[in-house]
Amino acid sequence: MKEPKDYLVLPLDVARDDLALEIVERTRGLVGVFKVGLELFTSVGPSIIGKIKGISGAGVFLDLKLNDIPETVSRAIKVSKAHGVDFLTIHPDEAKEALSKVEREEREGLKILGVTVLTSLSGQKLSLLGYSEGLLRNIETLVAKRAELLWDAGVDGFVCSGQEVAHLRARFPKAVLVVPGIRPFWSVIPGEDQKRIVTPKEAIIRGADHIVVGRPILKAPDPRKAAQRILEEIEEGLRWRSKTSTP
Ligand code: C5P
Repeated sequence: MKEPKDYLVLPLDVARDDLALEIVERTRGLVGVFKVGLELFTSVGPSIIGKIKGISGAGVFLDLKLNDIPETVSRAIKVSKAHGVDFLTIHPDEAKEALSKVEREEREGLKILGVTVLTSLSGQKLSLLGYSEGLLRNIETLVAKRAELLWDAGVDGFVCSGQEVAHLRARFPKAVLVVPGIRPFWSVIPGEDQKRIVTPKEAIIRGADHIVVGRPILKAPDPRKAAQRILEEIEEGLRWRSKTSTP
């Protein structure tokens, strides 16, 4: 039976392993999965994965957003699994070819998540990147197109914004949906880079399996208390979900 903490992913967005492990220690028991991103991984390397697991017993999400030629991506997937990673992100570009080079047992227990559209990207930025006006009029069309490509490639789920999660839940009932861009109403920071934000409760109601919450916890005066507040919101969302029997 999944507990509220299993829904919470805390990104370790720091550049030193002592700082990362201090956060793991401080939030132990309140977080289901710790996310290691580009900054931490590039700074300290894969040894951090075993250290996090050793201290917390929580899962590790390696958020490298892989995007390279199929051979390179497939090798990175196999190495990640060997290091004990639980979640790994890839872009859609070469996902199908890359995943076709990885046998089932070479990724057993590793959930591969496709990145649809980064929550920091606005329509204006996407237009500069060359996406057609037609697609941008409705960002969900772009997310849906990329999600179909990724699902067909064999991913286990998606990273998506809280505004797309309900649609993806309906279209892919078995997908693992991980939602960043979460802001409890008590922690909205004006002028921040996150777009398309939702609250923890709303993301859970809409069908998220995991929510990524960083700065509202890490920048709070008392991170444990902030994490506990978020767990309460997750619980409220889950109660709502069970009442309306959404999966
Ligand atoms: O809650 P906060 O904005 O601090 O979370 C930031 C984290 O969420 C970063 O680690 C970032 O990589 C991650 N993320 C994101 N948007 C995505 C995927 C991941 O902001 N689409």
